[in-house]
Amino acid sequence: MTSLAVLSVASEVYPLVKTGGLADVVAALPQALAAEDVPVCTLVPGYVAVLAALEDGAEVHRFADLYGGPARLLRGRAAGLDLMVLDAPHLYSRPGGPYQDPSGRDWPDNAWRFAALARAGAEVALGRAGAYVPDLVQAHDWQTGLLPAYLHAEGGPPTVMTAHNLAFQGIFPAPVFGTLGLPPSAWSIDGVEYYGSVGYLKAGIALADAVTTVSPSYAAEIRTAAGGMGLDGLLRKRGERLLGILNGIDTAVWDPETDTALPACYSAARPAGRTLSKVALQARLGLDVQPNALLYGVISRLTWQKGLDLLLEALPTLLGTGAQLAVLGTGEPALQAGFAAAAQAHPGRVGCVIGYDEKLAHLIQAGVDALLVPSRFEPCGLTQLCALRYGALPVVARVGGLADTVVDANEMAAAAGVGTGVLFAPPSRDMLEAALLRTARLWGDRELWRRLQRNAMRTDVSWKRPAARYAALFRDLLASRAA
Ligand code: ADP
Ligand code: GLC
Repeated sequence: MTSLAVLSVASEVYPLVKTGGLADVVAALPQALAAEDVPVCTLVPGYVAVLAALEDGAEVHRFADLYGGPARLLRGRAAGLDLMVLDAPHLYSRPGGPYQDPSGRDWPDNAWRFAALARAGAEVALGRAGAYVPDLVQAHDWQTGLLPAYLHAEGGPPTVMTAHNLAFQGIFPAPVFGTLGLPPSAWSIDGVEYYGSVGYLKAGIALADAVTTVSPSYAAEIRTAAGGMGLDGLLRKRGERLLGILNGIDTAVWDPETDTALPACYSAARPAGRTLSKVALQARLGLDVQPNALLYGVISRLTWQKGLDLLLEALPTLLGTGAQLAVLGTGEPALQAGFAAAAQAHPGRVGCVIGYDEKLAHLIQAGVDALLVPSRFEPCGLTQLCALRYGALPVVARVGGLADTVVDANEMAAAAGVGTGVLFAPPSRDMLEAALLRTARLWGDRELWRRLQRNAMRTDVSWKRPAARYAALFRDLLASRAA
């Protein structure tokens, strides 16, 4: 097996910049691909936090003018990764998030901030950034969707477009097209044009050699009008060149046997530390300290996608079974207010932290009995994978990657010794309530619960299998090019 060098291009990387699971994937997949003899170099924008973390950054390329100012590419290491960083202060050196200003509005020049990232990726792929020339390019999400378009027009190695969430497509007004440096022929239904606008993700899906998304079920859902968010026709057209490859998690970052965020470590064989985590979590969130109360957790962006309005509606049912709820999340003001109000209305029973807190996320995974993910759609989802590893049974909607990663503990599954959680469908208040009642019944049989917990903790949620699938796809694409 020969080594295959991949340039991975993305707008987030854990722990330097993260708004969601994309950052986790971009950080963890390279480590797993290394074991497949696929060395990965990761190109990210030079946000302040990225430049501050970069070690031994050496300049490998200069742009006299990249959308309004000079820029350069630096190569170095950070967060254990081989990083390429696009240092362009006029585009990335700002307060606020990677896509939004401090007040939460999208930066008005996002079209160019991410066209620049794609352009930089193309320069590297075309061998113009020093000695490093990748054999293949993986572009993540709309922020890099133009990269397959540039390489389609200019040559270069094969490209894989990985779509993590079709809800975010990078759609900009038609006049943006003239500023992108693409040939006029790219303005077509087979290129970047999308219902009269410019579609960055659409361009990547249309022009990459292959398209992947992050679970087999989501790959099937997005081929339908109901799940395709306007892209289903194009996605169907990609045929076998659209694949769903499940995400894994970084099993070193998420390891209850070594986790320093917990009051005590634990394992399936020695679960005592789990009870200590539960008590610590209850105390931290102002919940009644009751080891025997069924404690649910939520760790999530608070958005429509995640179905958490359904949970607010189902809350009386949850509390009616005697259970407790711990929520950590940030997002839409109405949902933030809804959970804050629920905590006020039910002291000791509902605890809520509005904000982003990695350490608390670990304590919740270790301390709750079950993790709720009632998403309306979910490309993969990572929190249910962490929950499996930490022995929190996932109670999840049967959609996308949630359907692919949790085994419903129905009677037959329990008899066969394979259940790991509770699934419900469709994502509605009624079916969520039914799932809460079913979960309470399972909790009532503590011996069965412990068996399910052990099944969950035995599940392989690592990147090993997914990385082998990516490596196989990459090798296949290179072989097709050579043929
Ligand atoms: P998405 O990317 O759609 O938000 P995922 O489940 O794929 O959903 O990834 C979410 C990631 O963000 C997980 O690593 C999860 O632990 C983390 N996360 C989400 N909300 C918070 C929060 N409020 N505090 C800490 N971590 C969070
Ligand atoms: C997106 C999806 C989530 C997925 C993550 C990483 O943010 O919403 O389901 O796990 O990307 O692929």
